[in-house]
Amino acid sequence: MKKLKFAIIGCGRISYKHVEALVGNKEEVLLAATCDIEKEKAEAKKNEYIERMGQPLNVGVYTDYKEMLDKEDIDVVTIATESGYHPEITIYCMNKGKHAIVEKPMALSIKDADNMIKCAEDNNVKLCISHQNRFNAPIQKLRGAVEGDRFGRLVSGTARILWNRNMGYYEQAPWRGTWALDGGTLMNQCIHNIDLLQWMLGGEIDTVYAQCDTFLRDIEAEDFGAVVIRFKNGAIGIVEGSACVYPKNLEETLSIFGETGAVSIGGLAVNKIETWRFKDGKDSEDDILKDQGADPDTVYGFGHINLFKDMINAINNNEEPLINGEEGKKGMAIILAAYKSRLTGQPVKFPLEDFSTMEMVNVDKINK
Ligand SMILES: NC(=O)c1ccc[n+]([C@@H]2O[C@H](COP(=O)([O-])OP(=O)(O)OC[C@H]3O[C@@H](n4cnc5c(N)ncnc54)[C@H](O)[C@@H]3O)[C@@H](O)[C@H]2O)c1
Repeated sequence: MKKLKFAIIGCGRISYKHVEALVGNKEEVLLAATCDIEKEKAEAKKNEYIERMGQPLNVGVYTDYKEMLDKEDIDVVTIATESGYHPEITIYCMNKGKHAIVEKPMALSIKDADNMIKCAEDNNVKLCISHQNRFNAPIQKLRGAVEGDRFGRLVSGTARILWNRNMGYYEQAPWRGTWALDGGTLMNQCIHNIDLLQWMLGGEIDTVYAQCDTFLRDIEAEDFGAVVIRFKNGAIGIVEGSACVYPKNLEETLSIFGETGAVSIGGLAVNKIETWRFKDGKDSEDDILKDQGADPDTVYGFGHINLFKDMINAINNNEEPLINGEEGKKGMAIILAAYKSRLTGQPVKFPLEDFSTMEMVNVDKINK
C-alpha cells in the first residue's frame, strides 16, 4: 500500500510526539513537510525526523501552511498549534481535502467544534482528536471491563489531575492560560482525564457543576477546578484538577466504581493499574498488578503512536477513527459547561447549545 504523506503544522513542545508517532508507524507513513511560523522550529522538526529515521529524506520546510498545501502532495496534516487556532487551520486543510489529526482541545467553542465535524463530513475526510491516553494499555483494559459489564451498576468515578505548572511553563508560551487561545488547567491539562471519565461512565451528560479559581499563577484562566458531572445513566463523576501542586507533578488518576467492581489507574499520567477488583473473579488483582509494564516517565505517555495507527487504519479502510470529531467534542463540552457553571454559579444542563472560552474574559469582574 502507498505510504500516506504527513505534514506537521506547529512544531512546538508537543510536536516531538508527532515525530515519534510517524517513526513508530514508518511502514505506513512518511513525513513530507513541516511548518511553523518560526522557521527554525520547522527546520529542527525536519532534522529530528530525519535523525530518528536514520537516513537522508526529502522533507519540505514552511512558515505558511497554505503555501505548503499548494506546493506539497500531502494526505494528512497534524495540527499542534495553539489551541485557539485549531478550528481555522483544520477547516482550511480539510477543505483542501486533507485528513487531520488535531491536538486537544479540538476547539474552544461548541460552534467551532461543530463546524469542524461538519467540514470533515462535507469533504469526506477523517478527523481525529489527540486524546492519546485512550490508547494507554491499562485504559484499554478498563474500557474492556466496562464494555464487558463487569462493574454492574456504575456508581461513580473520579478524575484527579494533581500536577504542577509553574510560571516558567506559562511564560515559555504566552498563549497558555489565556481565554482566547487556551483556557485554564481544566481545558489544557485535565481534558485527557475528563475525556476518559466520560468514556468510562457513560458519555451522555445530564448536568455539570463547577467551582474554579486562579490561586497561584498569574494567568487569566483557572489554575484549579473542581467539577461534578451527573451522567444520564445516574453515575456521578468528580474532577479534581490542579496546576498548583507543590513542588512538582504528583499523579493523574482515574478511578471507576460500580456495584461489582473497583478500578484505579494512576501513576504520573493514568498508565499504572493500582486497584483492580471484580466480583466475577475472572482475573486476580495480584496478577494484573504484577504483569504491567513500567510507568512512562513523561505525562504524555506513549499513546500518540497508537492514536496515529488507528487514524492510518481509518483512512486506509475508510472507517472512523476511535476519537473522531464527535468523540473529541465530548470532553471539551464538559469543560465549557464547567466554565459556564463558574460564570453563572449554577449547574449547567446538557446539551450545551453553544459556549466559548471567550465568554469568560470578564469572569473576574463578574465574580468579584
Ligand atoms: N496531547 C497532549 O498530551 C498534548 C500535550 C501538550 C500540548 N498539547 C496541545 O498541543 C498544542 C500545542 O501545544 P504546545 O505546548 O506544543 O505549544 P507551543 O507553543 O510549544 O507550540 C505551538 C507552535 O505552533 C506554532 N504556530 C502558531 N501558529 C502557527 C501557524 N499558523 N502555522 C504554523 N505554526 C504555527 C508556534 O510558532 C509554536 O511553535 C495545544 O493545542 C496543546 O493543548 C497536547
